[in-house]
Amino acid sequence: MAGTASNERGSWNSKLGFILAAAGSAVGLGNIWGFPTQVADNGGAAFLVIYLLCSFLIGFPVMVAELAIGRKSGKNPVGAFKALSSNKFFPLVGLWGVICGVMILSFYTVIAGWAFGYAFEEIFYAVGMDNVASWIADVGNGPKNAIVASLFMLATIKIITGGVSGGIEKATKTMMPLLIGILLIMIGYVMFQPGSAEGIREYLLPDFSKVNSDLIFSAMGQAFFSLSLGMGALITYGSYLNKKENIPQAAAFVTLADVGIAFLAGLLIIPAMYLAQANGVEIFVDGKLADSTTLVFTVLPELFHSMGSVGVVFGVTFFLLLSIAALTSTISLLEVPVSYAIDEHELPRPKAAWVIGLGILAVSLLIAFFPNLIGYFVTVFNNIGLPLGGFLICVFVAYVWKTDGALTEMEFGFAGIKQSMFSKIWPFFIYVVCPAAILFTLLQTLWSLITG
Ligand code: PFF
Repeated sequence: MAGTASNERGSWNSKLGFILAAAGSAVGLGNIWGFPTQVADNGGAAFLVIYLLCSFLIGFPVMVAELAIGRKSGKNPVGAFKALSSNKFFPLVGLWGVICGVMILSFYTVIAGWAFGYAFEEIFYAVGMDNVASWIADVGNGPKNAIVASLFMLATIKIITGGVSGGIEKATKTMMPLLIGILLIMIGYVMFQPGSAEGIREYLLPDFSKVNSDLIFSAMGQAFFSLSLGMGALITYGSYLNKKENIPQAAAFVTLADVGIAFLAGLLIIPAMYLAQANGVEIFVDGKLADSTTLVFTVLPELFHSMGSVGVVFGVTFFLLLSIAALTSTISLLEVPVSYAIDEHELPRPKAAWVIGLGILAVSLLIAFFPNLIGYFVTVFNNIGLPLGGFLICVFVAYVWKTDGALTEMEFGFAGIKQSMFSKIWPFFIYVVCPAAILFTLLQTLWSLITG
């Protein structure tokens, strides 16, 4: 008989394995490509401060809620809502999460492919094959985009077929520490370059007169995407979590890791942006970023090329690590629909991974040839889809499952939780603060779409 749902599901081998895998899901293009771009576009340090507040005050409580739903039900996002209540609407919320995961993965793979391609661009540039280097560097190059995106998706599928502990956990455990190491070395280099001080100032000294509603809503969207919230990725990862683990503590580690790496990426890229500008690269036009989709891919190669022969080593390593960070996120994006297929349709894991992965690749190939589609996907599935999911997850925990049910689940691994400060504060955030803040973001996004 084909593997049954329960033995196909799997579980994490260790607490560290879970934290690294969940942090691996959170840390990705959102941190290294998205976050610095948003900082540059939205008022520097002021954005950083609001982003930190959104991550800790709104993101962290929602992450706790997702992990609790996942662990209590032991199911994918659709099955989890079915298991915890008889309400017919919420499984549809889970299904919306699965759809968002599929659609986000389809364009994420293309951007990850750009990063992967740049590792080779650096090599061809270094050996003087400038034509090949520029062919790879062209983000509008359809055939090249299709090749790298396909390689990326195949790697993702391969890891997912390996299962939870053998595939996901093993892969992320080695890759995450390596990423932090290289980021730190590169920050050290950039700090000592003449001209980086202006970037450091821009990044670290907030000018709060720049805070406006657009900035707050962008920071909220960024925090949600970066923490992998709102589409059930953490419900899924929580479903493999052992009852021994302390959920609020695990969520705090993951939030800190995600925010920490975004902060480091900004500390590298914002000063590097000013260095590139001093070298004549056009970064801003009329006070706005010249091209926000490709900022990182414009600025960083410029930095590496200015470093002489060590630049190629840094360039190749950096882009490989960025690809790896993206890979630990794509595996979590693919795991969501795969766990759904295993639990709800009893598909064996390898078959689910191949069928769904190749199906998503078909959409990625379309985006590879028409990268302008990325903007539309981001609007619908990130900017609307994730906050909508996050809002409904809060509503579910507060008003359907009830926060007391979630706290009872969290007593496993955190014995005194119901007497702790956490049990006084967290429910208030889930009842009021998070849904209200998310709903405002959502309405503002819809309003600005309608009014153009
Ligand atoms: N958090 C990832 C990043 O910052 O790149 C993106 C992501 C992964 C979003 C998984 C949502 C998700 F479920």
